[in-house]
Amino acid sequence: MTRGIIISGGWGTRLRPLTCTIPKSLIPIVNKPVIERQILLLKSAGIKDIILAVSVMSDVLRKYFGDGDKLGINIQYTDEKTPLGTAGAIKLAEDYLKEENFFMLNGDVILNFDFKELIQAHARYEGLGVIASKVVPDPSRYGVIIAEEKSNKILKFLEKSEYTPPDGKHIPMPINAGVYILEPDIFQYIKPNKKVSIEHDIFPILVSEEKLYHYSIPGVWKDIGKPEELLEGNIQLMNDMLKNLQTKKENLIDENLDVEGKVLIKPPVTIGENVVIRKNCQIGPNVIIGDKVYIGANTEIKDSLIYNETYISENVKCEKTIIADNCLLHDGVQLIGNNQNLVILSSYVEVLDNIKLIAPYNNSLAICHHEVVRLDVS
Ligand code: GTP
Repeated sequence: MTRGIIISGGWGTRLRPLTCTIPKSLIPIVNKPVIERQILLLKSAGIKDIILAVSVMSDVLRKYFGDGDKLGINIQYTDEKTPLGTAGAIKLAEDYLKEENFFMLNGDVILNFDFKELIQAHARYEGLGVIASKVVPDPSRYGVIIAEEKSNKILKFLEKSEYTPPDGKHIPMPINAGVYILEPDIFQYIKPNKKVSIEHDIFPILVSEEKLYHYSIPGVWKDIGKPEELLEGNIQLMNDMLKNLQTKKENLIDENLDVEGKVLIKPPVTIGENVVIRKNCQIGPNVIIGDKVYIGANTEIKDSLIYNETYISENVKCEKTIIADNCLLHDGVQLIGNNQNLVILSSYVEVLDNIKLIAPYNNSLAICHHEVVRLDVS
């Protein structure tokens, strides 16, 4: 197998306003776009040609990856005028994928496992497709896969609304992880030029024909559908990367970090290139900082993601926040989220001196790109 397709043309509505300026597949996960991490995993499994099924903000994706030369892989693009759904999107690449089986990935999942395992599983099952599944402790947030125990043949999918945990207690169950290997025969099931969902319209037919299997994958898995999942997924992958390092480290910090005076770093923390941190700051735990970020004196940051080229002034406090690229936080700003609800700044937001943005307990607090925040919100 040498080919793969990554579907990366959805609107990403649940991640707005972050996805108003960054396509969902280019959202950084531990400082590298989610889809770039997927491409590198495909490459290590021997895949040489990748199609990106793009639609929303396709120009941004094309510009970022080009022909794939920089990543040492051949990348091509489909031409989808409006989003055609997950199956409609791959149908457009039928001519390119019709020769042999291929990988299909949802471009919004964080993964860290050896894709060769899935190739081997598919060869054993001999079905029309295999779904990578992930066993999660609380499956009620997702659809659940019910399968024959020995053969791993899928018997049915239970939608979120159909799944009732036995005795009200959750037991770990496999869910669809958004990574598949499919045989070219799949294209016979997808009508052209129609909006079709592979999960809802096609997989149930394959299950009724007993042609679909699942394989439970190891390692990190997280769908970055919602902001709190994005924060959680970043932290999980950072921990996994630290765990798998050959030389033990507590943090992933670029060697050119410019630190002035005493700075307390509480692991785990990731810091990108050309970052400056001034005296008496406390950074961490669970902080990921991109490239060219400046952090002024006496600032405290924990449980947060900060994208490239953001400037944070003195005496700032950030907790449970996602701060996109090119933001500007003036002196004394406080951005405070809570367990489920974050404070989110989209790209190019400016927050004026001593402003407090506190997330309520029932919703994240999000500021749209290019806004200037002049009043407290709580
Ligand atoms: P929400 O609007 O927040 O649900 O996000 P989304 O639009 O990304 O939808 P969803 O999470 O269901 O998408 C899963 C993956 O499929 C993502 O990588 C999307 O980019 C991709 N995707 C969803 N719909 C389409 C589509 O119509 N065309 C293409 N090319 N990709 C799609």
